[in-house]
Amino acid sequence: MISFEKEKKIFKLDTPNTSYVMSVYADMYLGNLYYGGKIDDADVCYMYRQGSEQIINEGEKSGFMNGFPFEFPTAGMVNSQETCMDIRNSRGQNGIELVYKSHEIYKGKKALKGLPASFGDSCDSIDITLTNERLGIDVVLTYTAFNDVDIITRSVKVINNSSENINITKMLSAALTLDYQEGMKIIDLKGCWSRERHIVYENLHYGSFVNESLRGESGHQTQPFVAVATGNITQTTGEVYAMHFIYSGNFLGKIQINEQDSLRMVMGIHPDTFEWKLEAGDSFQAPEVVLNYSSEGIGQMSRNFHDFYRNHLIRSKYLHEERPVLVNNWEATYFDFTSDKLVDIAREASKRGIEMLVMDDGWFGERNSDDGSLGDWFVNEDKIKGGLKKLSDDVHSLGLKFGIWVEPEMISPKSELYKKHPDWAMQTHHSIPVQARKQLNLDLTNPAVVDYIKNCLKDIMEQATIEYMKWDMNKSLSDYGSEYLPADRQGEVAHRYVLALYEIQEYLVSSYPDLLLENCSSGGARFDPGMLYYSPQIWCSDDMDPVERLSIIEGTALLYPFSTIGAHVSKNTNDILGRTTNMADRAIMALLGTYGYELDITKLTDEEKEAIPDQIKTHKRVEDLVREGDYYRLESYNENHLFDAVEIVSKDKDKVMVVMMQVLCTPCIRDRRIKLQGLNPDYIYVVNGQKLHGSTLMNAGIIVPRPRGDYKATLLEIEKAD
Ligand code: GLA
Repeated sequence: MISFEKEKKIFKLDTPNTSYVMSVYADMYLGNLYYGGKIDDADVCYMYRQGSEQIINEGEKSGFMNGFPFEFPTAGMVNSQETCMDIRNSRGQNGIELVYKSHEIYKGKKALKGLPASFGDSCDSIDITLTNERLGIDVVLTYTAFNDVDIITRSVKVINNSSENINITKMLSAALTLDYQEGMKIIDLKGCWSRERHIVYENLHYGSFVNESLRGESGHQTQPFVAVATGNITQTTGEVYAMHFIYSGNFLGKIQINEQDSLRMVMGIHPDTFEWKLEAGDSFQAPEVVLNYSSEGIGQMSRNFHDFYRNHLIRSKYLHEERPVLVNNWEATYFDFTSDKLVDIAREASKRGIEMLVMDDGWFGERNSDDGSLGDWFVNEDKIKGGLKKLSDDVHSLGLKFGIWVEPEMISPKSELYKKHPDWAMQTHHSIPVQARKQLNLDLTNPAVVDYIKNCLKDIMEQATIEYMKWDMNKSLSDYGSEYLPADRQGEVAHRYVLALYEIQEYLVSSYPDLLLENCSSGGARFDPGMLYYSPQIWCSDDMDPVERLSIIEGTALLYPFSTIGAHVSKNTNDILGRTTNMADRAIMALLGTYGYELDITKLTDEEKEAIPDQIKTHKRVEDLVREGDYYRLESYNENHLFDAVEIVSKDKDKVMVVMMQVLCTPCIRDRRIKLQGLNPDYIYVVNGQKLHGSTLMNAGIIVPRPRGDYKATLLEIEKAD
């Protein structure tokens, strides 16, 4: 709900349990008055600490400008805190002052042209237009307050109404100004390849904390997310303010505390690789930021994000559907396979209840290793005899669906495509482009490249029956230069790349609405809300070791529902770590995501093969709970270094599951007591044959027998008694 109080120009946005209040100060500046737990008064203008007369003393303006909680702070206004926007005018001068011009409140939410964005009917929006009349520039701040989840979204559009071009040199999407409280912490997700999204808590201090990506994607190392929490933060207590960016490119998140104990958080497109020429009459739309406030700890923050992404961001028809149990040949064969080998895997898989074969990297051009052929999207008939159609027909005749791997944004210097179009690689005139995995990025700012990729995808999709596609990206961006764009638009390369990526994925999912798309980037480097708008699931990490996955899952599920997290059972001895674990334990851990196998099923022992149907049966029993339920973190291996426990509760609170992993079995540890969360205290649940109230399970807890041995997973299934 959004209300407006005319006299003092106060805007109040309410979600079920939160309020967000802004007002126009001195008929000029839009300031933030409050964000937090729900309040009943709109007029909280006493929050401004700038005097009551609402008159700005021109002779002493700098103090005011430094302390004012600008809703959209801009550069050049003597501001000691971080700003969201800067421009360069036609005279080459920077800075822009913005004052309130008008606003419009409406039901629902508008789409953002060319960008992924949240949607929904159960929400209200407001466009607040700020202006700089001398420049002829309007800046429209759009806010949406959702009625079914404690989320507020923000985005910004710049309109050039003047007759001159300007350059936008900085364009972040949101700022929040809060009071710093002693003991506050930052919640951050750090990582690297095979170790994505590990949760880290850091103390806040005077100065700036920066979380950024300059890799052209969200990256293994970072997540477009910033959050601050009060010192008493736990899973169930404490306040947390979070920003998450619906964007898949270079971003800047910053948390800054100034000398007045004012805390400012900002989030947006990274200014280091961004400049945009805005011609007279044109507009620029910046992507959306998701604001999440919880007064009930981190757990509630996660559940807000999960509900929000499931109900208001992911569009795929598969969102609420059971996904096929797949077998992927990457770790089974790497590049060394033929269609005969794949059909062998499919045959064995079909006998065990697996529902889809996914052919990974290596089926096209002359790709027998990672040294070439990216861009040459024609089938290698030496390996895939009879072509894609024959293979897909053979797989289908075994009763399995068929999926395929692609990496459309790349070009190998060793490829037919590069011979024809060396200028299609991202590059600058003064440097040799930096390769990774012997490949370069295609210049997606060039429409001819975009058309080429669309045609290749079309060609792949139309030569065979393909139900699933894994879209990979194994080189982050470098060499931000385009042979196509003119000199005065080279600063646009990084952002235009992301816009073109979105355009191509939009083309793919709208042309083939039945296709199940999974995004991936060298494991989990493209796990961001932007990609979720196109694919309902994202490959989470190349590391399928069940212990290493604990922290990866915890960090990923901090923000994302399990229905989005790609999870496979891989081979006994993990290829990355060399750790050997049991298949049964790995199969339990893989329940926390979209379930599949990534191993050579033909090489398993008979006992392992025979166990697969039961593993799949277990997955099918709990998969709707995993897909739709509420997530509660009971124990964290990332924190205790001994064991982990994840609970999922169905929305009606009838069905519950707990996945536990004992990493280290130590002699002095007794059976574990686990206190459940999120149950109905009055319901009676059946746990291991015993009937107990929800209140008992949550307060007294249950005892889970301690397995003997390291790396042991336990699954508990609990149901409400009839
Ligand atoms: C990336 C992916 C893997 C696999 C390889 C293929 O690393 O994360 O799952 O698809 O590429 O080259």
